[in-house]
Amino acid sequence: MKEPIYLDNAATSYPKPEGVYLAVEQALRMGASPGRGGYQKALSAERLVFETRESLAELFNAGDSERIIFTANATTAINQALFGLLKKGDRVVTTSIEHNAVTRPLRALQDRGIEVVKVAADPVSGIVSAVALQEACLAAKTTLLLVNHCSNVFGSLQPIEGLGHWCHQHGILFLVDGSQSAGSFPVDFQALEVDLFAAPGHKSLLGPQGTGFLYVDKGLALTPLIYGGTGANSHSDLPPEELPERLECGTFNLPGLAGLNAAIAFINDIGVGKIRQHEVQLLDYLLQGLRQIDGVILYGPDSTELRGSAVSFNLKQRDPAEVGFILDQEENIGVRVGLQCAPDAHRSLGTYPQGTVRVSPGYFNTEAELKRFIQAIQRIAQQA
Ligand SMILES: Cc1ncc(COP(=O)(O)O)c(C=O)c1O
Repeated sequence: MKEPIYLDNAATSYPKPEGVYLAVEQALRMGASPGRGGYQKALSAERLVFETRESLAELFNAGDSERIIFTANATTAINQALFGLLKKGDRVVTTSIEHNAVTRPLRALQDRGIEVVKVAADPVSGIVSAVALQEACLAAKTTLLLVNHCSNVFGSLQPIEGLGHWCHQHGILFLVDGSQSAGSFPVDFQALEVDLFAAPGHKSLLGPQGTGFLYVDKGLALTPLIYGGTGANSHSDLPPEELPERLECGTFNLPGLAGLNAAIAFINDIGVGKIRQHEVQLLDYLLQGLRQIDGVILYGPDSTELRGSAVSFNLKQRDPAEVGFILDQEENIGVRVGLQCAPDAHRSLGTYPQGTVRVSPGYFNTEAELKRFIQAIQRIAQQA
């Protein structure tokens, strides 16, 4: 059996930094629930949650760490943002390249009387023009502009810089789905002027599954998505007014958050700029290799500068599912094939319904692994 190669970091990053595994185990052995007791162990657990919140706030220049709401993943964060904000009669402008974590809640909200407008991405690059988004916003009174920073299918980076500022000049709120960018791109909430930013902790932030967060800007009051115990104000049957407690209830995922804290420490040690630089090198190598193979159809932006690390391609006359199967069974290489939970994105670039083979290197991949992957694709292409 060949050595396994993991190239599905857009789904969840693997491996995690060594410190993450250690922190998860330590937290699991801690024996207390944060915010649920005044004894020493419970207070230590609470401190750990606080430190994680502070690390995230610092990494993304959130200003105030109380505005970071912990969630189980990016999907929950996006649902909290949308269902917590939108009312009947509101209007949302978004893109045609969103993940189902956005598309499905928006569809449910349409059924409740919210208007949703999807601006088409360029059919080759998968990039949506900022001007087209602004025009769509101005066509009628708009409540929210919602943009995916980086496509999980084609890697296309959207031009979010400046959109937050523009939205505020026009009385529109700005929500970014940072699921594929948080951790591998420098992201500054205050500079971007985001009102809401959703991200998982388990992708490029290198933390454990079961972690994610929603950033909620000052002055924005959201209705909670879920109701329950928060460890304080237990006399009242109403949720607390203040953040983060208002939007966080139930027992925390302490091992997950401890792991996320360790992951952020690792990212800070390396530096987000260096992480991005390494991923760009891997991407250049991968794209060059794939471009040289006869029969490979590559999708998404040509330039690595306009890309995150999800690379989608197909082999002429071959079903992506079959390519994925051969990669797994004969080469022991894990990639994601099909629609990658983003059918709208595939419709935008003409790869619906069969989808693509998506390969997504992460910080821990090497050129040697990509070389083996490229050779494997070469062999499969020759078998056609
Ligand atoms: C762009 C995008 N948005 C949202 C999500 C949902 O993330 P999670 O699985 O953490 O809920 C993903 C996951 O693949 C994604 O790529």
